[in-house]
Amino acid sequence: MITDKLQPFGTTIFAEMTALAQKHEAINLAQGFPDFEGPAEIVEAAVRALRSGDNQYARSRGHPELVKAIADSVKDLYGLEYDPMEEVVVFSGATEGIAASMLGLLNPGDEVILLEPFYDSYPPGLAMSGAVPRYLTLRAPDFALDGDALKALVTDKTRMIVLNTPMNPTGKVFTVDELETVASLCREHDIIALTDEVYEHLVFDDARHVPLAYLPDMRDRTLTLSSAGKAYSFTGWKIGWGTGPRALVDGAQAAHQFITYANSTPLQVAVAFALRNYTDDFRAQFRTEYAERRDFLVSALKSAGFTVTAPQGTYFIMAGFQDLFTGDDREFAYWLTEKHRVAALPPSSFYHFDVEEGRRLTRFAFCKKMETLELAAERIGKIGK
Ligand SMILES: Cc1ncc(COP(=O)(O)O)c(C=O)c1O
Repeated sequence: MITDKLQPFGTTIFAEMTALAQKHEAINLAQGFPDFEGPAEIVEAAVRALRSGDNQYARSRGHPELVKAIADSVKDLYGLEYDPMEEVVVFSGATEGIAASMLGLLNPGDEVILLEPFYDSYPPGLAMSGAVPRYLTLRAPDFALDGDALKALVTDKTRMIVLNTPMNPTGKVFTVDELETVASLCREHDIIALTDEVYEHLVFDDARHVPLAYLPDMRDRTLTLSSAGKAYSFTGWKIGWGTGPRALVDGAQAAHQFITYANSTPLQVAVAFALRNYTDDFRAQFRTEYAERRDFLVSALKSAGFTVTAPQGTYFIMAGFQDLFTGDDREFAYWLTEKHRVAALPPSSFYHFDVEEGRRLTRFAFCKKMETLELAAERIGKIGK
């Protein structure tokens, strides 16, 4: 009964691997959700909001307290100014933001450039809106952006480029030069950018997150998506948002009002509290803890015989398993889950153009307590033995 548009996409790989992990009581390093809580004070802010009667429909574009906190936060972080009531929209997670932006801003037949491997909701979002994807494959180990190849994909029908930085699943953080390559095409061909920056606070070492909207003339061509799920470890709250010029926000809002209309009122109030009170120190600590988890898992994977480059951002590691297993990424992920009781994600579903590229890789999520990662490392250490 599934519509022709969605038939090709099946069930998301996250649901499949999480169910498999549960069945085999495996440690789930497949799906990117923390196995620890976000700050207790933010939970208390949600409880306060629940108890003080913030329980009816919120304003469709977002609770006034939250949109103001978002606009202030983006100004503090990046110096970008958005009118909170006109240029911010709150979604049910960035995932709704992706779908609503595509549905509200694209006409059937518009072409959209996707950089693969991509977060798996991008192609179905385009399919639902009738737009046509054009893929550019970024290749391991550094996943560099080839400006000429990108340029070659632009036609007179290109309406949008979707960019995800820091990038899931590769862990890549786009450099200013790479962002400029994207920006120059947007300026030259009047293309809009949808940027998914949900991992904006998860960058390591010398890497810096630069929003595409920060580049010259890009604020008015870019709709930027972000999420409290990633920034505060509350993935189950599903509070995400978009910031952009009024024309783009109006487009996304046109769809959002008929998809969810509005999102959880008390949780929006709590996220506003988080954005105002959990800022620089919290984020520095967040990065330090994640850098420790990353270093630990990278070194455990290397000792077990995986080919690994430490990611510059996100909480994912892409690893090559060619020295450990003959078979493709799905077979490997099933084998690892069933035999070694550690679940990883087969990334080939994040590729549509050059699927082979994903078949030799596997993705581990390190958004887990150190003790979870230690247990996973112990199990992974036995693979070659
Ligand atoms: C790149 C990317 N965008 C969006 C999302 C989803 O964000 P949310 O949980 O706010 O819907 C994820 C979640 O894994 C992601 O990796």
